[in-house]
Amino acid sequence: MHFMSESVILIKNLNKTYKNGFQALKDVSLDIHKGEIFGLLGPNGAGKTTLINIVAGLVFKTSGEVTVMGKDVEKEYRFTRSKIGLVQQELAADPFLKVEEYLRLQAGYFGIRSADARIEQLLKDLKLDDKRKSPGRSLSGGMKRRMMIAKALVHDPEIVFLDEPTAGVDVELRENLWSLVRTMRKMHKTIILTTHYLEEAEALADRVAIINQGRILLVEEKEKLLSDHGTPLADIYRKYVNQDNNV
Ligand SMILES: Nc1ncnc2c1ncn2[C@@H]1O[C@H](COP(=O)(O)OP(=O)(O)O)[C@@H](O)[C@H]1O
Ligand SMILES: [Mg+2]
Repeated sequence: MHFMSESVILIKNLNKTYKNGFQALKDVSLDIHKGEIFGLLGPNGAGKTTLINIVAGLVFKTSGEVTVMGKDVEKEYRFTRSKIGLVQQELAADPFLKVEEYLRLQAGYFGIRSADARIEQLLKDLKLDDKRKSPGRSLSGGMKRRMMIAKALVHDPEIVFLDEPTAGVDVELRENLWSLVRTMRKMHKTIILTTHYLEEAEALADRVAIINQGRILLVEEKEKLLSDHGTPLADIYRKYVNQDNNV
């Protein structure tokens, strides 16, 4: 699909060794294109969150090159971070802040002055209207997840990372999220989705990568992968990832 091959994230020979000596990423190279939904698949501990955190500037790389829209994620952090919406894997909500206060605070963080219309739209899209005055401590897991997604989208980022967004969520939120992802794609956003639900990647992704033990094992267009193998994505995945690793 050459029409969407403009690079937005370029990763070259990326390595990450944590302070305790553990090597979480090994020579990772990836080229993520504008407007695609990129499914990053791999078992727990494969290095998915580490990779995302490095691109989002939350974790420092050990070596290699990482750029977002042509700018280095460490040297030009303010620029690159402003292009990224990050929905983190862990649910973290301040117990006292109300949903709408959360969103306003985040808008302020990105220097957006008049975020009211945007916030209203997000509250609606994520079915949070009636929770706007609810403090973090009163929200269910699903509601917290919705709030975190809204928070990540407040500054209307070009690139959205969804790190295991549907782990442990109910069917309604899952469907809601899938349709939100498809809407964002129509708006030419670039979406990086990590999941270990293969059916999710099969339903949403344009391209998929498989990562295991810090190494990228495969990067391919989903349709090509499916037609080459003639089996569901889950079966292809199993050929690459030894399920014994998948704790
Ligand atoms: N701060 C850290 N210090 C040491 N090891 C870490 C740290 N963060 C993650 N790891 C390890 O790096 C590996 C990859 O973790 P992570 O990127 O969270 O994988 P995934 O998101 O694919 O489950 C795991 O073995 C994890 O225990
Ligand atoms: Mg993770």
